[in-house]
Amino acid sequence: MERWKTIIEPFRIKSVEPVRLTTVAERQQKLESAGYNLFNLHADDVLMDLLTDSGTGAMSAAQWAGIQRGDESYAGSPSWYRFLESVHSLFPFKHVIPTHQGRAAEKILFSVVGGPGKVVPNNTHFDTTRANVEFTGAEAVDLVIEEGQHPSVLHPFKGNMDVEALDACIRAHEPANVPLVMVTVTNNSGGGQPVSLENLRAVREVCDRYGLPLFLDACRFAENAWFIKQREPGYANVGVREIVSQMAALVDGMTMSAKKDAIANIGGWLAMNDDAWAERCRNLLILTEGFPTYGGLAGRDLEAIAQGLQEVVEEDYLRYRISSTAYLGEALVEAGVPCVQPIGGHAVYLDAAALLPHIPPLAYPGQSLAVALYREGGIRGCEIGTVMFGIHPDGTETPASMELVRLAIPRRVYTQSHVDYVIEVVRWVAERASELRGMRIVEQPPALRHFTARFEPLS
Ligand code: F0G
Repeated sequence: MERWKTIIEPFRIKSVEPVRLTTVAERQQKLESAGYNLFNLHADDVLMDLLTDSGTGAMSAAQWAGIQRGDESYAGSPSWYRFLESVHSLFPFKHVIPTHQGRAAEKILFSVVGGPGKVVPNNTHFDTTRANVEFTGAEAVDLVIEEGQHPSVLHPFKGNMDVEALDACIRAHEPANVPLVMVTVTNNSGGGQPVSLENLRAVREVCDRYGLPLFLDACRFAENAWFIKQREPGYANVGVREIVSQMAALVDGMTMSAKKDAIANIGGWLAMNDDAWAERCRNLLILTEGFPTYGGLAGRDLEAIAQGLQEVVEEDYLRYRISSTAYLGEALVEAGVPCVQPIGGHAVYLDAAALLPHIPPLAYPGQSLAVALYREGGIRGCEIGTVMFGIHPDGTETPASMELVRLAIPRRVYTQSHVDYVIEVVRWVAERASELRGMRIVEQPPALRHFTARFEPLS
């Protein structure tokens, strides 16, 4: 980019939404009525909403134009054909099956290939992916490389699959019980870390050894491709579209949430080459999502996705996207705030265990930190630690392997001054970390408790 170092937002703003400034006292009161669970807040009471990057992106003028153009024909809509062409330009799978979001694609896929006795390996299953595998009675196994399990260990592709562990897993369970292998790009549950093409090729080789299909959980495929361009030897001069094509050529299918790297507010798809599986998937689609040319989507949603998919692989966009996440993360690291490193693509993950060593895991240091960020600065992040993963089906509770707070960055929504504000608030809270107290749960459901549990601060 010529001689200028400043990386600017590669867009200007023509439609704005107000955000509401609140006081610490107001937010304390909101916390009390929400049972200290940030999922229970009214979003109007949040200043910087970093709960998720899913469905929260800002659409472009061209996407809004597509919304107007959306054709709502039940079957064979022109919007469907534009969607299909856009998906095929990046992922030329024989069958593309639209769904209302990523987990619907997972539900259909694993209903067809899962079941008791089956085992599905992944670098790290996202929580809905794991839940959909387990719902069929199958087992979900996470096999990310060792480096990917330690927040402060540096590695350019911390999302990589441990290929030897994969081979051993397939042999231990027997290939006949492994319907497919999955790789999540980028690895959301492991810090938004990328997977290299070299690793994807090695995984492919293992799959070929046992005749197994390989699928991508491709939610953040464009961010992953950008990391490959930046970090993988030999790819600096290869275009992002070409890198995406190479990723697609190594696999037999994909699940996708268009709420991430299609910059749409809703949508997803399931794609594959296998005719027999596709037929069974389409039959399930018709049962729960809709006719195969719209899935669970309106024609206008298909248009927004078709356009968003073309914008997300633009290199100016990706440079800005990944740099702005790194800008937040690196400023925090420089200020001594422990974070998962290197900084991931869509989010910065604060290491609450390292920041709050005086709070034991079963007093939920991540929850305490997330609550403090909201109280002090109106910032909503998400605990990814013992609250989310600590409770087991038999009711026992053990510490999660990491205590993180994810600050996810919606696409094209916040400007640099918003991010500077987040840096200031996180630093302020981190400097006073020793004053934070743990929390206890006063009410919780039997499963997925992080969404609805109620907490109280420990005195
Ligand atoms: N796979 C990954 C890697 C995800 O991050 C998500 C969603 C899904 C699948 C499911 O997609 O939400 O469209 O049903 N992740 C969001 C998040 C919810 O906040 O990380 P979905």
